[in-house]
Amino acid sequence: MTKMAIMGYGVVGGGVHDIVKKNADTIREKIGEELEVKYILDIRDFDNHPDKHLFVKDADIIANDSEVTLVTEAMGGATFAYEYTKKMLMAGKSVVTSNKELVSKKGTELFRLAEENGVSYMFEASVGGGIPIIRPLVNCLAANHIQSIYGIMNGTTNYILTKMFKENQSFEDALSDAQKLGYAEADPTADVEGYDTMRKISILTSLASGNELDDDKIPREGITKITAEDVACAESMNSGVKLIGYSKVEDGKITARVCPMIIPEDCPLYSVEDVFNAILVNGDMVGDVMMYGRGAGKEATASAIVGDLMDVVRHKGKFDKNFSWEGEKNNVFFNPEDEENVFFVRCDASKDEVIKVFGNVEFTEGFEGAFVTEKMTEKAFSEKVEALGGVLSKIRVYK
Ligand code: HSE
Repeated sequence: MTKMAIMGYGVVGGGVHDIVKKNADTIREKIGEELEVKYILDIRDFDNHPDKHLFVKDADIIANDSEVTLVTEAMGGATFAYEYTKKMLMAGKSVVTSNKELVSKKGTELFRLAEENGVSYMFEASVGGGIPIIRPLVNCLAANHIQSIYGIMNGTTNYILTKMFKENQSFEDALSDAQKLGYAEADPTADVEGYDTMRKISILTSLASGNELDDDKIPREGITKITAEDVACAESMNSGVKLIGYSKVEDGKITARVCPMIIPEDCPLYSVEDVFNAILVNGDMVGDVMMYGRGAGKEATASAIVGDLMDVVRHKGKFDKNFSWEGEKNNVFFNPEDEENVFFVRCDASKDEVIKVFGNVEFTEGFEGAFVTEKMTEKAFSEKVEALGGVLSKIRVYK
């Protein structure tokens, strides 16, 4: 039997507890032994909970219990979760998490700590909720040089964009529903302003390249500036608007960014709606591969965590270097200003002014002041926007 603890009894921690109880038979069959929750750590009182005897408030009780070899960290954030994760790894316990903030900020240090203590630190649930993406990237696609990763990686914003622009719901109502459904972060700013997607693309890029990509190096925009006019223009171009996290390799250097993007209908990301996420990976040998599924929510996220827990038991907690990266080596990241993109623009300027500043553009039929530029660097685009005296909207176009 493996005895485990859950740190944090919110949506995700509660989901892990439910699955471990509900699917105990299949878990036992697949790992060849029982998986038992011995403790649940939470600062709140759960006096009416049927398993109230499991709740503790002191992380040392778990750290000092040698019977417990496996811990789920579902606390979120990078303060207490960081301290307690270190404590558990140093006490020789494997840790499984969905905490993308902690993995993206402190992964390098926590992997090292896990390796030193001969245990695992696993994080499949940190990107794409229930979608298998970390394992496919690390194992199944290991023979490839990863050329690009484009993902809809935030369930809350994809849900909001779908409800607002397909069902005419207000931003506030759509966000409130996403919160009720357990999709949103504790502070939904992390969702709508793109921080959550930034952490996820940072994790995938660091894993794919073996280099730590610092979150601060990723330019980021959220969805709050997207208007109904932008979406109508996109639709007239047989496209949609999605919040995308991407990274790509060009001339041996990696660029990463989080921003809303105009996605044409022939791109597989186009039809990804509601809470669903999808991650489109291009490998030099395999070509395009897309992973799709529920990107947030209690059961989906807990499903990925329990999968990791079972894997750790099967591999006797041994550290696997493939599920890690090192600090940044060899200056592999590109200056974002030099990245080339195609842009959709809406502005108040006349056609003549637009042509004078931007040269050859494609005007969007039926929408005054809306056009798509040729490919140009981010720097050149910013200069042209300034020369035009500002614009109403600017959205990158997926090419
Ligand atoms: N708030 C996140 C989302 C949860 O909406 O995708 C899953 O990481």
